[in-house]
Amino acid sequence: EKVILAYSGGLDTTTIIPWLKENFGYEVVCCCIDCGQGSELDGLDERAKLSGASKLYIEDLVDDFCDNYIVPCVMANAVYENKYLLGTSMARPAIAKCLVDIARKEGATAICHGATGKGNDQIRFELAIKALAPDLKIIAPWRMTDVWTLKSRDDEIEYCKQHGIDLPFSMDSSYSRDRNLWHISHEGLELENPSLEPNYDHLLMMSVRPEKAPDEGEYVTITFEEGVPTSVNGKSMKVSDVIRTLNELGGKHGIGIVDIVENRVVGMKSRGIYETPGGTILMEAHMQLEELVLDRATMDAKKDMSNKLSQIVYEGKWFTPLREAVQAFVESTQKYVTGTVKFKLYKGNIIKAGTISPYSLYSESLASFTTGDLYDHHDADGFITLFGLPLKVRAMKMAELEEA
Ligand code: ARG
Ligand code: SIN
Repeated sequence: EKVILAYSGGLDTTTIIPWLKENFGYEVVCCCIDCGQGSELDGLDERAKLSGASKLYIEDLVDDFCDNYIVPCVMANAVYENKYLLGTSMARPAIAKCLVDIARKEGATAICHGATGKGNDQIRFELAIKALAPDLKIIAPWRMTDVWTLKSRDDEIEYCKQHGIDLPFSMDSSYSRDRNLWHISHEGLELENPSLEPNYDHLLMMSVRPEKAPDEGEYVTITFEEGVPTSVNGKSMKVSDVIRTLNELGGKHGIGIVDIVENRVVGMKSRGIYETPGGTILMEAHMQLEELVLDRATMDAKKDMSNKLSQIVYEGKWFTPLREAVQAFVESTQKYVTGTVKFKLYKGNIIKAGTISPYSLYSESLASFTTGDLYDHHDADGFITLFGLPLKVRAMKMAELEEA
């Protein structure tokens, strides 16, 4: 029987290969999924085979991740607990779907992942696999504490050696990180104590501290068509390139560094740092454009849907009817979200520098004080009388009660 292993090439997932063979007698097919983490994929094939895998798939998921997972979340302005732009959360269902596709192709009966038993990722992987392939068995070594007895990196290295795997593994017990095109997350080390300031110089990988950003600000323009970003600084490009370009600019100017204590699905609070340089600019630009083109009631309803989607995505419920319905609502609001937003990036700040849209609902003559025929000041008299009626009735009642 075959198992598909979500493989990164790191020590943990490499150790899992001989472990799966020894404990379950599986043939192990590794799958390394590229969501834009920009890491060394060279030498991975050799590494997996040396460790006993029968095959390694390297799947480039970057555009699928951008077009089918990131874009819907940008359209919805989905942000978890007001701060987290869901970089890891959005990638998990994309990865899980790819693992399921390969399991089908290979006729595998199980999927194995290396997420820990304390986190959100295990939930996201497994809910997605259950929704797409209810018949597949899921193996999560980190939760099988009676079979997985390795307690440290040294234990893992020792176990590998015993199984004839002698590979150079970096000894760094650094932050726990997850990187893709959208973001990088950092957890662990000093971050586990929320009273401590993060060691930014040690930690940052996609961006610089605002203090170290250039003293000159820099303009950027982003164009959207029906809610989809289509160009940067007047140059048309696919979404993944929009994100790459904005990552470059945002990183340089220290944009999108977030320090959060978030509530994990499993009940605990967890402190982490996220770098989402391009994503932060993109999300902000999208919201800025919506300000101009969406009517008030739609914006209001959309805020609820935004919150809803961020919850759904964070909790790993991507492949559900609710996510589809929320996404459909959001997409139907994007018909006129077309236009161009200009920002100045300066030392960690996104400074608004103007927005243009052919569908702008903003009327200068209406907003300015010169009276036109669309707006008669006298109409406001009656409007305020009715709008304020309940307040007035209540105040009168209170006064009456006080006198009695
Ligand atoms: N806490 C974040 C989330 O739940 C990031 C998780 C990072 N995952 C990792 N394997 N390092 O989405
Ligand atoms: C993990 O536990 O595998 C990483 C953290 C998380 O999933 O939240």
